[in-house]
Amino acid sequence: MEHDELLGPLYADHHTYLLSLYESLLEETHWDGVILTSGCAAAKFGDDQCHPFRVSPGYRQWVPCGDHESSYLVIRPGHRPRLICHQPEDYWHVSPTPPSGPWTDHFDLSCVPTRVAAAEALPGRLSGWAFIGEPTADLRAKDFGGVNPQGLVSALNFHRTVKTPYEVECMRRANRIAAAGHRAALAAFRADKSELDAHLAYMAATRQTETRLPYANIVAFNEHGATLHYDVFDSEPPPESLSFLIDAGADYLGYAADITRTHAATDGLFSDLTEQLDEAQRCLISSIEIGMSYVDLHVAMHLSIAGLLKRFMIVDMSPEAMLESGLSSAFFPHGLGHHIGLQVHDVGGKISDPAGRVIDQPSSFPFLRNLRPVSVGNVFTIEPGIYFIGQLLQPLRSKAEGSAINWDLVSELMPCGGIRIEDDVYVSESGPENLTRDAFASLR
Ligand code: GLY
Ligand code: MN
Ligand code: MN
Repeated sequence: MEHDELLGPLYADHHTYLLSLYESLLEETHWDGVILTSGCAAAKFGDDQCHPFRVSPGYRQWVPCGDHESSYLVIRPGHRPRLICHQPEDYWHVSPTPPSGPWTDHFDLSCVPTRVAAAEALPGRLSGWAFIGEPTADLRAKDFGGVNPQGLVSALNFHRTVKTPYEVECMRRANRIAAAGHRAALAAFRADKSELDAHLAYMAATRQTETRLPYANIVAFNEHGATLHYDVFDSEPPPESLSFLIDAGADYLGYAADITRTHAATDGLFSDLTEQLDEAQRCLISSIEIGMSYVDLHVAMHLSIAGLLKRFMIVDMSPEAMLESGLSSAFFPHGLGHHIGLQVHDVGGKISDPAGRVIDQPSSFPFLRNLRPVSVGNVFTIEPGIYFIGQLLQPLRSKAEGSAINWDLVSELMPCGGIRIEDDVYVSESGPENLTRDAFASLR
């Protein structure tokens, strides 16, 4: 994948931004420079195989293409960034394509044939230097001043929550790829295929191998939708298909999409509830304003979900009381969403400043991954859910609040598993831009 006429100039601005950010953070944190590694594949214990390799996110932010292991980026204020690319000659494996294209003009690029040569190409005296990434055996002799020093890493993580226009465009494209996959998987479900068939249809339509996925696909029919990270797929279709929850993403030059859709096989209660949750999710997204707290959005979604549970006569209690008693969490047990970017659950959602001060996790919402105020440049997911999870609901039968639950309706809905609707939202100066809905619209 290469930069085109749109991404090329956006990358140039992105590079300029990164360089000035790194230079000012290195000055503030008193480092002479920093070395970022691409990382290398981890060996499986007792085996001659490795875990799938993914380039480290800090390195990927600068280096858009090529899965080069044991390569290094050398950033030193006042100097052009150096890219030392480990480009092995290897008749056992295919070597990554050598870096090429206009983006390489921003670096002093050298390609070396061995890991040792890559390590040897690093600056000689490193006592004033920071190193970011997993240090590998080739670097044992190197005397870095700090390995993943907290001050610099926190500051970089903090700033990663604000995306550049280049990064947003990559995520727009990742969403378009994933949307095509969702459409193909839905066609497989509608054609009475199995979970595995729906997954394979997704993979074929997105033209990715599984190691490129930003996270393992969740392809869940019927009650499997109640397992939040369901990732084992039946190879046979169920006797009766009731519902389909698919949470599946895509990667574009290292940037992730993370999309969930839920579909009902037929009209009826589950279908109506799904439609209403979809509307509540869109309504919440349209209410997003710069400066508001993401925690408040999460609370607003709880109240909205509680309102649906009441309207559908699943729970007979006021939404406020459902929130207060924790009952809404039994149906919506996870967080509203998370920052997304180079990692599907991107960094920086729980720190309040570049120094890395940790924001207190609200005790009622232990799984909420974004505690920050909404800022221009954020890209985060909005992913409410309503689930019928036996492990969470059954214990309520013997509690006071359990008397408010319509257990007959819960029993009727349990075979459908659950509902999740997840979009990726970019916060622009002029308000929220829904990357996911736009991507689905572009398919038509
Ligand atoms: N697919 C993982 C998540 O939605 O966070
Ligand atoms: Mn997500
Ligand atoms: Mn997801």
